[in-house]
Amino acid sequence: MSIRILTISGSSRRDSLNQKLVDVAAVGARGAGAEVTEARLANYDLPVYDSDFEVERGIPEAVRVLQELFARHDALLIATPEYNGGYTALLKNTLDWISRPRADGSSGVSLFAGKTAALVSASPGQLGGVRSQIGMRAVLEKLGTLVIPEAFALSAAHQAFDDEGKLKDKNVELAVSGVGAALVRTAARLA
Ligand SMILES: Cc1cc2nc3c(=O)[nH]c(=O)nc-3n(C[C@H](O)[C@H](O)[C@H](O)COP(=O)(O)O)c2cc1C
Repeated sequence: MSIRILTISGSSRRDSLNQKLVDVAAVGARGAGAEVTEARLANYDLPVYDSDFEVERGIPEAVRVLQELFARHDALLIATPEYNGGYTALLKNTLDWISRPRADGSSGVSLFAGKTAALVSASPGQLGGVRSQIGMRAVLEKLGTLVIPEAFALSAAHQAFDDEGKLKDKNVELAVSGVGAALVRTAARLA
């Protein structure tokens, strides 16, 4: 059975550099034999998490859909953009909602436990968003997800892609797709 990988970009921007980067990593994952599904956060309209909202109005349908998507996948390939030295509110808000109880009453946190994840990031800046990876790694590990050491931070990302969304530098492309392939290998060993 092939490893099932869910890709997520922590930016919902139409031309998100992080979406483009995770797409390249996904090519590597597919090449290593994984089945890859793309979750576009722009398609899930979630309110900012608030426990009063949860108590009074329940868990939004979009969260239910994401929880079931998480349940069907073995590993996460996440592109984590950097806003002011950290990961984006969109990404954290999405993970916070998913961690809430599922429709059958089971724990949403269990959707993260035992999963494997890999992180990539892209930024026009010189550090490629690496600081957001540090924070996101800590969040995922707290949730019980094993974050593999293979990762990539793409600096000057606004100049790195061609019009078709391909990385111009073949060595960078190899390194990024290698992150996707490494995720498949580790997830397969743990399966
Ligand atoms: C509020 C805000 C804060 C930002 N802070 C950082 C930062 O700390 N470090 C960095 O490298 N880029 C920073 N950026 C630039 C983002 O990396 C850049 O907008 C990037 O393209 C966002 O990812 P996306 O292309 O996937 O949407 C910031 C952008 C915004 C809007």
